[in-house]
Amino acid sequence: MSEQPAPSPDPCPAPDPVPPPEATAVPGATLSDIGPLPQVSAPPEPIPPPPVVPPPETTALPEAPPVAPPPAGAQICVVIGRTRHKMMQIEIQEAAKRGATLIELRLDFLAKAPDFKRLLAEKPCPMIATVRRPEDGGRWAGSESERLMLLRQAIVAGFDWVDLETDVIDSVRRYGNVKRIVSYHNLRETPPELETIFQQMCGQDADLLKVAVTAHDPADNLRVLDLVRRAPKPTIALCLGDLGMPSRILGARYGAPYTYAAFNKERGLAPGLPSFEDLKKVYCYSQVNRETAVYGVIGDPVAHSLSPLIHNKALRELGINAVYLPFRVPRGELPNFLKAFEQLGVGGYSVTIPHKEAAATVADRKDDAVTRIQAANTLVWNENGWSASNTDAQAALASLEANLPPTPDGTPVSLHNRSVLLLGAGGVARAVAHALAKNVASLTIANRTPERAFKLAAEVDCRAVDWVARHSVLCDLLINCTPVGMHPNLDDSPIHHSFLKPGMMVFETIYTPETTLLVKEARTRGCHVLTGVDMFVRQAALQFTLFTGKEAPLELMRTVVKRALSPVVLREEE
Ligand SMILES: NC(=O)c1ccc[n+]([C@@H]2O[C@H](COP(=O)([O-])OP(=O)(O)OC[C@H]3O[C@@H](n4cnc5c(N)ncnc54)[C@H](OP(=O)(O)O)[C@@H]3O)[C@@H](O)[C@H]2O)c1
Repeated sequence: MSEQPAPSPDPCPAPDPVPPPEATAVPGATLSDIGPLPQVSAPPEPIPPPPVVPPPETTALPEAPPVAPPPAGAQICVVIGRTRHKMMQIEIQEAAKRGATLIELRLDFLAKAPDFKRLLAEKPCPMIATVRRPEDGGRWAGSESERLMLLRQAIVAGFDWVDLETDVIDSVRRYGNVKRIVSYHNLRETPPELETIFQQMCGQDADLLKVAVTAHDPADNLRVLDLVRRAPKPTIALCLGDLGMPSRILGARYGAPYTYAAFNKERGLAPGLPSFEDLKKVYCYSQVNRETAVYGVIGDPVAHSLSPLIHNKALRELGINAVYLPFRVPRGELPNFLKAFEQLGVGGYSVTIPHKEAAATVADRKDDAVTRIQAANTLVWNENGWSASNTDAQAALASLEANLPPTPDGTPVSLHNRSVLLLGAGGVARAVAHALAKNVASLTIANRTPERAFKLAAEVDCRAVDWVARHSVLCDLLINCTPVGMHPNLDDSPIHHSFLKPGMMVFETIYTPETTLLVKEARTRGCHVLTGVDMFVRQAALQFTLFTGKEAPLELMRTVVKRALSPVVLREEE
C-alpha cells in the first residue's frame, strides 16, 4: 500500500485517526483462488423472507458481549462514483489530499468496464470495492453473474475491502487479506424485520456489517443505532434520507468504525449522504465518541438550517465535547419525537417551523417570554423534563438596540421615541411585538390575514391595520416579519419602495438571503438598514448559553454565518 499523503489541516483538532485493518493484494493471484467461476453463473438463493418480528423493544436480537470501545476518532469513508475513470482517479487523489483515510469506489457508476490498474494506481489509502444493484440504490445495468464476476475481479485486483450484499456474500469466498463487508440496503423502508435480518448478517463471513434503510419516522434512527450498540462485530447502520442524518453521525457514539460521505455536495450518490467537507468541518465527526453530548435543531424542513454550522463551530471553539445535529421532525410529531429520543440524552434543541407553538405546549416549564408569546424556539433538558425559552424576542430587541442609527444632534439613541410598523403576525412577529410593545412610542401591526394582526394587537395593546392599508401608516421604523423576499422569491418585497424614506430605519428579519429586495431598496433610498443576520446570531448565542451554561463566541458565530451566506465562496481559514 502506498503511503498516505499528509491530510490538510483539520479544523477539529482530534486524536490521530486509527486506520482500519490494512489489507493487500496477493501478487499473482487469480480469480480461481476465490472460487470456481461457474459458481457465479447460478445466482445464489436469496435469503428467505424472514418472519415478521415484534417491534424493536421485544426484538430477538441477542444481547452481545460488551463491544470494545470505539477507536479514538471514527473515520469518514469518502464514496466516489463517476462514469469516467479519469474523474474517479482525480477524485481519489483529491479526497486523499483533503484528508480522506478510507475510500469506497462505486464501480457501478463507471460507463466502461473497470480498469483496476488505473483505478488502484497510486492508491493513497485503503479502498472498498462496491458494485451496487438498482434495487439497492446503485446503477449496475449488467446481469447478476457479471456483477459477481466483477466483485471477484476487484477482490484479486488489490482492493482492501469488498462490499457484498447479504444475499450474495455466501457465494463469494474469502480471499487473502481482503476484508469483507456484508451489507443490507432497503430504499423503501426500515422494515419491521430489520433486527432478524441483522441477526442473520451477524452469522455471515464478514469483518464488518453495514445496514442502510430508509427512514419514515425519526425513531427509525434509534432502531439502527441500537443495532450498532448491540452488534457483536463492527457495524455501520444508518437511515437514508434527511430524516436519517442523526444516525449517520451518532453511530460513532456507539462504536461504528466509520460513516459514509460524498466527495462533495454536488454528488447525489445516496439519499441524505452528507459531504466529506460537512462531516469533517461542521460536525467534526472524528471527534464524536461515547462521551459526546448531543444538541440539535428540530424543524421541517431542516436540511438547510444554518444552526448546525454555527452551534458546532461555537462548541468546537470552546472545546466542548458535543455535536449539534439537524433533526427533521414532521408537523404534529414533536411530543412523540421528544419522548422517543430521550434515550439519546439530548441536552437541548433549537426549535423552528412548524414546532414553535407545540414546543411551548409540551414543555414542563416555560420562561416568561414563552408564556406571553405562546411559542418557544428553545428546549433545554433538565432532570425534571423540558424547559422552554424564547430567545427570538430578546435577540430582536438586543439587535435593534445595538444597531439604532446615531442621532445627528447627539441625543442618546433609544427605541422609546420610535413609531414602528410591523409586517406579519406569525411566530417571529409575535416575538418581536411582545418584545417591543412596551419599548416604543407606537406600534402598528399589518398582516395578510387581518384577524391575526388584530388578535396580536389586542394581546400587546397596540394598533392593527388591514394589509392593504400598510402603506398609509406613518412610521420611522419598519420591521418585516414575513417571508416575502426570502429565497427563492428574491424579486418580492413586502412594501412598495416609495414607502421608504431617507432616515427611516428598516429591520429585515429575513437572513436568507441577507440582502433581500427590501434591503436593497431601503439602502438605495437612504434608509438605515438592519438585516436578519444579527438577530439570527443573537438568538443562537442565547440558546448556546442555555444549552451549555457558557458565554457564546458571538463574533465567531457572526463570521461563520456571514461567510455561509456570502454569494462569493470565501475559502475558510483552516
Ligand atoms: N432573523 C432571525 O433570527 C429569524 C428567525 C426566524 C425567522 N426569521 C424570518 O422571519 C420570517 C417569518 O418567520 P415566522 O416563523 O414568523 O413564520 P410564520 O409563523 O409562518 O409567519 C409568517 C408570517 O408572514 C405572513 N406571510 C406569509 N406569506 C406572506 C405573503 N406572501 N404576503 C404577506 N404576508 C405573508 C403570514 O401571514 P398570514 O398570517 O396571512 O399567513 C405570517 O404573518 C421567516 O421568513 C424568516 O426569514 C428570522
